[in-house]
Parts: sequence; structure tokens; C-alpha cells
Amino acid sequence: MKFAIVSALGLVSALAQTPAPAPASPAPSPDFFENKVRPVLAENCYDCHTSAEMGGLRVDSRERLLQGGKSGPAVMPGDPDKSLLIQAVRQSGDLKMPKGGKLKPAEVQALADWVKAGAPWPETKVTAAPSSPNKVITPEQRAFWSFRPVSNPAPPPNADAAAAPAPAADQAVPAAVPAATPAAPSTTLPQPSTPK
Ligand code: HEC
Repeated sequence: MKFAIVSALGLVSALAQTPAPAPASPAPSPDFFENKVRPVLAENCYDCHTSAEMGGLRVDSRERLLQGGKSGPAVMPGDPDKSLLIQAVRQSGDLKMPKGGKLKPAEVQALADWVKAGAPWPETKVTAAPSSPNKVITPEQRAFWSFRPVSNPAPPPNADAAAAPAPAADQAVPAAVPAATPAAPSTTLPQPSTPK
């Protein structure tokens, strides 16, 4: 019995002395992605890899990175060395990105760490202004002209309308408005000097 206790204690102390595993790359918090990963992609890659989809690749969602471009998946979560995106920014092979430039070593490292950690892509929190639950839109507010659907109202009645059917918009013009401003006498207009 005594032996068992002693050996158990020995085991405990042996366990306690086992060195802690070497710290892996920093655990990717959402902040790590937002501060170190997304800005690098946005500043250096979005010009060509969002709607332009060069090489068939978009880099603005995890889904699209996993799907990849013409050459297949751009990111293998957990394996930076096998991830085309990391190879591209390390510029170790033929594919060198960003095209015509080079990321800073710290930026490459951040991308690699992020892929190593599984390439987490936190949902963007939509920070909308909290709407007051007591806010009520009255029928009068709802009837404001710009909130009403577009319609084609009948033109207002016009005494002259009978005389000559005018285009709808003109029917609202009272008869008193002169038809046209008389043309200014041509003599008062500056004449272009014509070369003789
Ligand atoms: C100026 C435009 C441009 C920028 C900026 C750019 N790329 Fe590219 N990228 C391309 C083009 C074009 C291709 C197609 C292959 C080629 O022509 O080299 C490509 C291809 C790729 C591919 C391979 C896609 C496939 O499946 O074949 C990856 C991965 C890639 N880019 C990653 C990046 C990353 C990461 C960045 C930012 C650090 C970046 N690119 C910035 C233009 C760009």
C-alpha cells in the first residue's frame, strides 16, 4: 500500500515535470483575423480577387478561398505549405502574388499563421443602430410622397384642354402663360466674325 502511494506520487511528479508543449502560433482570435489578415487581403488582393476574379479566385470569403480559382483550392486549412495562397505570397514558386508586388514578411507570416490555425473567418458583426421598439410609423408618415409607389395620376383639368389636346404635362399650364418668348432681334445678338 505504501509502495502504491509512493509510486503514485512519483507518477504525479513525473507528469508535473513533463515540459509543456511548445506554444503553437498564436491562437487566432477574431481580432487576429480582423487586424492582421483581412486588411492584408483587402489592401493587396481585393483589386484583382473580388469581383474581377482574376485567375478565377475571390479572396473575400472563406468559402471562396476553399473553393479556390482555376488551379483549385487556394487555402488548405491547417496546412500553409500546401496552400496555394501561401505559396503565392511567399513567392517561392512560379505564382507570385500580389501581382507586381511583395508582401512584408510579417504579413506573409500572419497569413500563414492564420491558415495553420484553420483559416477561421469570423462573421462580420453588423452593428446597426438599435431601433427603438417604441418607434411607430404613423399612417401620415407612411403617406409621405417619396414613400408612395410610383403612379400615373390623371392630369388636372384645364379650361383650354378642349381647344387643343396638349401633351399630358402641358395641360397643367394655364392659358395665360405666353406660348413662347418672342425671339430677340437678331441685331442685338453678338454676331460671329466671319473671316472674309
Ligand atoms: C494586379 C492584380 C492582382 C493582384 C493585386 C493579386 N493577384 Fe492573384 N492573380 C492575379 C491574376 C491575373 C491571376 C491569374 C494567374 C496569373 O496570371 O498569374 C492570379 C492568380 C492568383 C492565384 C491562383 C489562382 C488559381 O487558382 O489559379 C492565387 C492563389 C492568388 N492570385 C493569390 C493572390 C493573393 C493572396 C493576392 C494578395 C496578396 C493577390 N493574388 C493579388 C492577379 C492579381
